[in-house]
Amino acid sequence: VRRSYHEKVLDHYNNPRNVGSMGKNEKDVGTGLVGAPACGDVMKIQIKVDPNNDTITDVKFKTFGCGSAIASSSYLTELVKGMTLEQAGRIRNTEIAKELCLPPVKLHCSMLAEDGIKSAIANYYKKNPKAKATDLGGTGATMPRIEVELPADSPSVAT
Ligand code: FES
Repeated sequence: VRRSYHEKVLDHYNNPRNVGSMGKNEKDVGTGLVGAPACGDVMKIQIKVDPNNDTITDVKFKTFGCGSAIASSSYLTELVKGMTLEQAGRIRNTEIAKELCLPPVKLHCSMLAEDGIKSAIANYYKKNPKAKATDLGGTGATMPRIEVELPADSPSVAT
């Protein structure tokens, strides 16, 4: 029997955590909507932020995509709940891919989750520009550039 998916992927796929939506017009909600051009899969990540301590108090996702994309977003939501925006912004797709044992051709699915949380954080900062100035110590730092971290020997996959 060919096992395409690791059991952790199947677990998240069968019991996805934090599926749903939040009001995207709420001031304390950041919405990220990202897509993978190669496969057409789309992921929406939403975070609710406590403005007092910059912490993610709730998170929801909706993913129209493959099992690895669904599992990546489900795992991401578990990971970021309770994190500060700064911590969540530092999550790398490789971390997600490692946890879910994704094969190289499925790395771009975990990339979608990294892009999704970054996009949600950026959207929150856009709605709350003051939060960014204060929380990043007024350095005017911008969101880190999105990097694709593929092993050098992997076949080229679209991201
Ligand atoms: Fe494109 Fe998984 S195949 S996100």
